[in-house]
Amino acid sequence: MQMLVTAGPTREHIDPVRFLSNRSTGKMGFAIAQCAAARGHAVTLVAGPVALATPPGVQRVDVISARDMLAAVEANLPACEALVMCAAVSDWRPRQTSTSKLKKRGLSPILELDANPDILATIHDRKSGRIFVGFAAETGDPRPEGRRKLADKGLDLLVANDVSQPDAGFAVDTNRVVLLTCGGEEQKLPLLSKLEVAERIVAWVEQALASRIR
Ligand code: PMT
Repeated sequence: MQMLVTAGPTREHIDPVRFLSNRSTGKMGFAIAQCAAARGHAVTLVAGPVALATPPGVQRVDVISARDMLAAVEANLPACEALVMCAAVSDWRPRQTSTSKLKKRGLSPILELDANPDILATIHDRKSGRIFVGFAAETGDPRPEGRRKLADKGLDLLVANDVSQPDAGFAVDTNRVVLLTCGGEEQKLPLLSKLEVAERIVAWVEQALASRIR
């Protein structure tokens, strides 16, 4: 299959030296890309600013902002059969961006924000026969919000993680996730390495595509 994966954070610049972002390191998304490529799939990885090496056999597109990521996903969507949106996309961006460093004395204490486009919502009408997988990063039981996002974003599979746990979510090498499917199934996985979580996700997508083609 042709798989498109997003990973890492996005950065929304205030000026050349300051930005809004989040704690994503790209580890979870890169593990998915690595696993899919190792299983023989053609993988394009759209990566926000992260300090990770490109997994073998993966085609990588580097982006900075949410709007860059949207453009890269839109450009690569037609060729893909499955999209896994693992990136932690910034929901907001500063209303104004300065091309030169803002002086401390001139800084307004109030930063005005505009909403970024929701990538999954923007491309939803181009889903066609593709499999769409999303993630939900929640603090606390991730299932209620996960179910809501699964339905609202028209996904086939949602991977819900509780990012308040020290061994799950952002930056660590392990994750504890619940797989929520559009068919109403729920599978709570134990604590696993991110590569093991990736294997479960890629295997789910392989099966979903195979049953769609049949
Ligand atoms: O990168 P790591 O350090 O390994 O951390 C992994 C992770 C915690 C980032 C990952 O496991 C994870 O949870 N990724 C999704 C984080 C997130 O942005 O969740 P969300 O609940 O805000 O978004 C829900 C879904 O909508 C996600 O699939 C997201 O990619 C997508 N989204 C969000 C905002 C936006 N503007 N457009 C989107 O498409």
